[in-house]
Amino acid sequence: MTTQPSLLQQLPPDLDANRLPKQVAVIMDGNGRWARQRGFPRVMGHRKGVDALKGLLRCCRDWGIGGLTAYAFSTENWGRPSEEVDFLMTLFERVLQRELAEMMTEQVRIRFVGNLIALPESLQSAIAQAMAQTADNTGIEFTVATNYGGRQEIISACRAIAQEVQKGEITPEQVNEELFAQHLYTADLPDPDLLIRTSGEMRLSNFLLWQLAYAEIYVTDTLWPDFDRAAFHQALQSYQQRDRRFGKIHQ
Ligand code: FPP
Repeated sequence: MTTQPSLLQQLPPDLDANRLPKQVAVIMDGNGRWARQRGFPRVMGHRKGVDALKGLLRCCRDWGIGGLTAYAFSTENWGRPSEEVDFLMTLFERVLQRELAEMMTEQVRIRFVGNLIALPESLQSAIAQAMAQTADNTGIEFTVATNYGGRQEIISACRAIAQEVQKGEITPEQVNEELFAQHLYTADLPDPDLLIRTSGEMRLSNFLLWQLAYAEIYVTDTLWPDFDRAAFHQALQSYQQRDRRFGKIHQ
């Protein structure tokens, strides 16, 4: 018996291929609640969350979206119980090692953004290896924010710029939006057009504070492990109904 390829493998016909977001960002919230609702330990939710993320990355690739940025661990997440933090660090490392070959086959270019120096050394090595090995891939750009904080990112950009001014390399007048953006972790990445947050929370939680200035925000009650192609389809339907004016008016 042959299995029918899922219709959702191709861009659903009600979506306009010319008006898709080029860059999507996602706050993957609700893993803990998903697990608790099923009587599982919270970390089971994170495991399922990896599957959901992999599914979304594939879906972005299949539907022609150039980049996905996922918030995997915030600077505030260190405040969680140490067993959960340790679990997450080990999970990131295992997933990276396990998925590297497939990322090569699927031409995924992975990069990590955040204060990576504070991560366990073995994770830092796995990150460095994955970034180096996938650097020349030509497919989707996958960015993982790990030990990431938007305010911290802005402060470190300010420091770097202040030092350049102090050394006389640039003048204060040369500091503009473009130069500032080049000093962020996300230099060279387009700003997200769409931010998705799961589990109904209406907060930015210190995620990409500069880069999300003009993003359309979509919040769904779906918990992250349940966020599948159908849920992403709904997010894109909502996105395509928005009137993006970037502060201007239509003439
Ligand atoms: C938020 O749910 C989720 C996280 C803090 C972790 C997300 C990480 C992954 C899905 C793994 C990604 C893996 C790689 C390699 C990129 P929560 O725990 O805050 O849920 P709750 O709000 O229900 O408690």
